[in-house]
Parts: sequence; C-alpha cells; structure tokens
Amino acid sequence: MSHTTIDDATTTRTALVVVAHPRRDSLTAHIAELATRRLTAAGYHVDLLDLHAENFDPRMTAADLPEWGNREKTYSPETESHMRRILAADVIVPVFPVYWLQVPAILKGWIDRVWNYGFAYGRSKPRLAGKRILWLGLAGAADDDAIVELMQEALSTQLNDGIAYYCGFAQSSVGLLAGAEEKRQRLDDAGNLLFDEALTGSIREAHYAGLEDRALSFVDDFLAADQVPA
Ligand SMILES: Cc1cc2nc3c(=O)[nH]c(=O)nc-3n(C[C@H](O)[C@H](O)[C@H](O)COP(=O)(O)O)c2cc1C
Repeated sequence: MSHTTIDDATTTRTALVVVAHPRRDSLTAHIAELATRRLTAAGYHVDLLDLHAENFDPRMTAADLPEWGNREKTYSPETESHMRRILAADVIVPVFPVYWLQVPAILKGWIDRVWNYGFAYGRSKPRLAGKRILWLGLAGAADDDAIVELMQEALSTQLNDGIAYYCGFAQSSVGLLAGAEEKRQRLDDAGNLLFDEALTGSIREAHYAGLEDRALSFVDDFLAADQVPA
C-alpha cells in the first residue's frame, strides 16, 4: 500500500447530511441527494441522517434537559449517538422545507435535544468549534415574493447568529431555495395566499433545473470558502 493511499484514508473528511422531510420522494430529499453527490465528488465521506426514516423523536425529554453546571452530563442513548455522528463530521448540511419562516419541528427538536449544554455550547472551546455548516432551506414562496428577503434574514438570524455562532462554528451559511412549489405561492396586499398557475412542460423543467443549479452553487460556494486561507 502506498503512503498516498494511507494519507488519503486518514484525511478523508466527513459530511453529515441531515434530511428533515417525511417523504422520501420530496423535492427536499432530491436536493439532499444532489448535495450528497456533490460532497462525495469533492472527496467527502457522507453520513446521511434522514430524521424521519430514523424515527428521530423531536420532543424534549427529561433525560435530555441540560443540568446547568454539569457540562459532563451523559444524555439519553439516542442523543449521545447523534452527538457522536456530529463529532465525526467536519461539515453539516441540513436540508429542510421552510415552515413558518423557520426550520421544521423535527429539525428544531434535533437541535434542541442533541446540540446540548456541555456538548454544543457552554464551554470556552465548544466541541463543535471549527466545524462548518450549510443550511439548505426550500420554500414555497415565489422567488420574487417580498417575503423571501424577510425569510432569508429570519433564517440567517436564527441559524447563523442564534445557533451556529453560539456553538463556535467556523462558518455557517443559509442557502434559501424559494420557488419550491409547482404552484408558487405569494401573499397579496390583503394577506391572502395566492397560488400561481402550476408550472408545466419545458417551463417547469427549466424552473426546477434552475433550482437545482442554485442548490449546487450553494454547495460549491460553501466548499470553496474552505479553500480560502483564514
Ligand atoms: C407547515 C408548513 C409551513 C410552511 N411555511 C412556509 C413559509 O413560511 N414560507 C414558505 O415560503 N413556504 C412555506 N411552506 C411551504 C414549504 O416550504 C414547501 O411546501 C416546501 O419547501 C416544498 O418542498 P417539498 O416539495 O420537498 O415539500 C410551508 C409548508 C408547510 C407544510
């Protein structure tokens, strides 16, 4: 065995791709698959965590509540096993549908239960320090709906500032993919939810090809940012 092979094996980086959608044939799952392929092509070993398929329970439990002052607390076996998967990852890529301008409950519960005190935060050097995260959110709102800017701001504040910065991540980016629905949604001035005509034929194909391109650009930009010297 050559030295090159040994070095390659020991330096392989891991990406934890987290999917938060109940349907395996969803657009969300499809985008997660594209991101997985791109990460694999870039040399990452991908650990795919499908929260629904793995029956992750997002409800907080007594066993997983922080014990303030005890940073060494052992949490529930489910939480501890998720912590090990996070520790093994260099980058984390949650892929999710935007629900009410936020992450869906299953993903929120994963953060609440697993990104816990003494593990993700509460230390001068958090265990997640230096890791990088790319949040890929799909939204039904039409790309040109004014809500999209607000959504980007809301998600960036919650995910980059509220969570990733707090946990010592070296980088956190939100890639927002609006226009995910075939009948794109928009609010009128009176607050009514209006649906555009369903996209069909070549227009539909071009629309989803564009959405896929945007998703892959988010992944590429995220990977390229790692190459920039600090
Ligand atoms: C409970 C719920 C809340 C939603 N909230 C929003 C929202 O705040 N903004 C938005 O643009 N779309 C919203 N949507 C639409 C989803 O973002 C959209 O259906 C999804 O991203 C499409 O991806 P999928 O085909 O993989 O489900 C919501 C959908 C549901 C079911």
